[in-house]
Amino acid sequence: MSVQRAAVVDPPGRPPRVLDRAVPLAGEGQVRIAVTAAPITPLDLLCASGTSYFGVPASPYVPGVQGVGRLDDGTPVWFPTDAGMKPGDGSMAEHAVVPATDVAMLPEAVDHHLVAALGLSAVAAWHALTGRGQLVAGEQVLVLGAGGVVGQAAIQIAKLHGARRVLAAARSTAAQERAHRAGADGVVAVYPDDDVDTLARRLGDAADGPVDLVLDPIFGVAAAAALRVLGIGGRLVNLGSAAAETAPLHSATIRSRSLRVLGYTNSELTPAQQAHTVSELAGHIAAGRLTVAFEAVPLEAVADAWQRQAAGNVPGRIVLTI
Ligand SMILES: NC(=O)c1ccc[n+]([C@@H]2O[C@H](COP(=O)([O-])OP(=O)(O)OC[C@H]3O[C@@H](n4cnc5c(N)ncnc54)[C@H](OP(=O)(O)O)[C@@H]3O)[C@@H](O)[C@H]2O)c1
Repeated sequence: MSVQRAAVVDPPGRPPRVLDRAVPLAGEGQVRIAVTAAPITPLDLLCASGTSYFGVPASPYVPGVQGVGRLDDGTPVWFPTDAGMKPGDGSMAEHAVVPATDVAMLPEAVDHHLVAALGLSAVAAWHALTGRGQLVAGEQVLVLGAGGVVGQAAIQIAKLHGARRVLAAARSTAAQERAHRAGADGVVAVYPDDDVDTLARRLGDAADGPVDLVLDPIFGVAAAAALRVLGIGGRLVNLGSAAAETAPLHSATIRSRSLRVLGYTNSELTPAQQAHTVSELAGHIAAGRLTVAFEAVPLEAVADAWQRQAAGNVPGRIVLTI
């Protein structure tokens, strides 16, 4: 049996340690991937905490719901896994095995760390804006949580789809700077003690008339404030609760302008559909039209990187180099 280095969660609730683990063998219909880059995402942290709606994962297991690497013939690919959601290992190891139908072929020249950093966060931003949000060219879009990976990707994807103006909202000056770099036309500061009225006024002052579509990965006060600046028939698509699980929504705000409050999850896509979207995104990444802040960290330093990503004090997505 050949062995490899792998990040291993055991037990759930503790950061992974790097251990020797058996190299997985590809079965019928599967491919083995030599992993080059694996991001530490909010979904990885949530699943490994044992508190997600997927339940406590069977351990020990290798975390990592997505990664980038090469097939045996050298072809660069992106791949998703079920690690932490179903029994089985993920991407944070030298090798991973997944169904052949789930991989996205990548352009040879594309930066593996960048694809890994954007991955499913960009897939979510893409489908939330264009599918659930029905973004139409010429519309004004507001992106909440704009310093996160979903937020930075959403700003660029809204522009790629012809948004006339993209307004961004973020907390720290570093997050606001990331939103600027992603191409936001205006950036609004969000403060911890903001109430709905105060933040809605600030958003309204920065907007160029009524907003058509809000991309919301955070919920809470910011989502309630964002609803106030939507025009008639405006849409808010929620895809996360980074700020709060609940929000102080007012019936009058929603009904008076026939607003639509919508939800989105990547789980509604099959792995093959996720891979198809990553292939499309990889074209934009390779062409320099889509990027994001990330920090490359060696696999051996996963425990410290895991804790820093969980604490949120990182300049961008942490991507493990494998
Ligand atoms: N539905 C889906 O399929 C799907 C897919 C991907 C991600 N998500 C979810 O979307 C959310 C963002 O993901 P991400 O990849 O962008 O994460 P990330 O890169 O780690 O960024 C963290 C995000 O959370 C925000 N945030 C964290 N704590 C906050 C607080 N106390 N108050 C307000 N904002 C806070 C940050 O806002 P600032 O910019 O202001 O710092 C930033 O936007 C996560 O909850 C994630 O689980 C959902």
